Amino acid sequence: MTGPGGPLGPPWAAGVARDERGVLTVGGVAVDALADTHGTPLYVVDGADLRARCRAAVAAFGRDRVIYAAKAWPTTAVLQVVAAEGLLVDVASGGELHTALHAGVDPARLVLHGNNKSTAELDRALEVGVGRIVVDAFEELERLDALAVARGVRAPVLLRITPGIDAHTHEYVRTGHDDAKFGFTLSLGLADEALRRTLAADGLELVGVHAHVGSQVLGTDAFVANAEVLVDLLGRWHTEHGVTVTDLDLGGGMGIAYGPGDDPVDVATLAEKVLATVDARAAAHGLPAPRVLVEPGRAIVGPSTLTLYRVGVVKDLPGLSRWVAVDGGMSDNLRPALYGAVHPAVLAGRSSDHGDGPVMLVGKHCESGDVLGDGLTLPVDVTAGDLVATAATGAYTEAMASNYNRLPRPAAVLVEHGVVHPIVRRETLDDVLDRDLPLDGPPLDGGGAGTPP
Ligand SMILES: Cc1ncc(COP(=O)(O)O)c(C=O)c1O
Repeated sequence: MTGPGGPLGPPWAAGVARDERGVLTVGGVAVDALADTHGTPLYVVDGADLRARCRAAVAAFGRDRVIYAAKAWPTTAVLQVVAAEGLLVDVASGGELHTALHAGVDPARLVLHGNNKSTAELDRALEVGVGRIVVDAFEELERLDALAVARGVRAPVLLRITPGIDAHTHEYVRTGHDDAKFGFTLSLGLADEALRRTLAADGLELVGVHAHVGSQVLGTDAFVANAEVLVDLLGRWHTEHGVTVTDLDLGGGMGIAYGPGDDPVDVATLAEKVLATVDARAAAHGLPAPRVLVEPGRAIVGPSTLTLYRVGVVKDLPGLSRWVAVDGGMSDNLRPALYGAVHPAVLAGRSSDHGDGPVMLVGKHCESGDVLGDGLTLPVDVTAGDLVATAATGAYTEAMASNYNRLPRPAAVLVEHGVVHPIVRRETLDDVLDRDLPLDGPPLDGGGAGTPP
């Protein structure tokens, strides 16, 4: 049953409701009007929801303590909003750095990440004055040192520690050693070696340590454990090397609700536990309390956004499935195909007093794995031409969008105070062709294909 009513509630953004016609609205704007004007698929950001999440994080952890992980959605307008709300920005490549600068983010408020930053990326960071560079590998320490010396500056460095905590599930595990792509493995002594090399380098200024324990972490335990490990490390470094650093960056990974089973901890509770742990532990080591930084991406932008699709085909297979195919798919949201992620769906353009039934929500790609939702339900009268919305699609969707099957990538709008702001232009078929470089002259092997007209 889908009808008029108040806000839909999580996992939908706070400003998602239904109007008297039963049409979904975002920030007071009906989605049928959005689809008519901007087409589908369409990412629709609830601007007030996005800002509220930024504000809650800043209120919990403090000003200049929350770093938006741009990788979740590094589009210019989103970076403008989060920066205006007082967040710093973590960029994980030269492209994200370029976008953040384009968005007008103060370089001093940027944090550069990446496990294999190129010389060009590191040098651009130094050139523009990026506030923190999280170094991930010995080669990078050397590269950055040489570049900084050449520029006559000292690069502000956080060392990325692999702390032996794995939180890729709802629980966390401490592993004896951590076989990871990222960072200096603590248990193998690499973190200590990185410290020695940093202290010996003329071009590096150690400002802190960083560790990221996982993604979509719903509880507090893994973050508290991470804080304990890092503060203990700082305590030992203080004793053994006389080093005192200011920054303790606990990474991102705060989970969000994608479905009824997900019950993420609220950011205030998380901050309270983590900050209490750090303060008590630092005091026990005789250290001044470090500045605790966090890097949420998904928890800032994920819940704020829905994706609007138009249904093109409904195929009922008696005794089997009802297949509902929409005009997008794995090219605009890879998460279900990649991780088996589930984004709940609703009929968006009208109400229905028919009951809900199970559907396979699929896209339009030539790929059986092009599933947007297995185990979802929609009203049983869903039909071609209907609008369908999927929830919590702000993080790692547009950011991972592709042109698979040469589909132009969708547009995005941000709705705030009843005003619709286009923030990503829909690609055209010519955009998709834009990078192709046709061969001129005859085909290279010269054989059999004839001569071009
Ligand atoms: C170093 C680092 N920081 C922050 C994040 C953001 O994670 P999330 O979007 O889950 O908060 C990631 C994600 O991979 C990360 O690797």
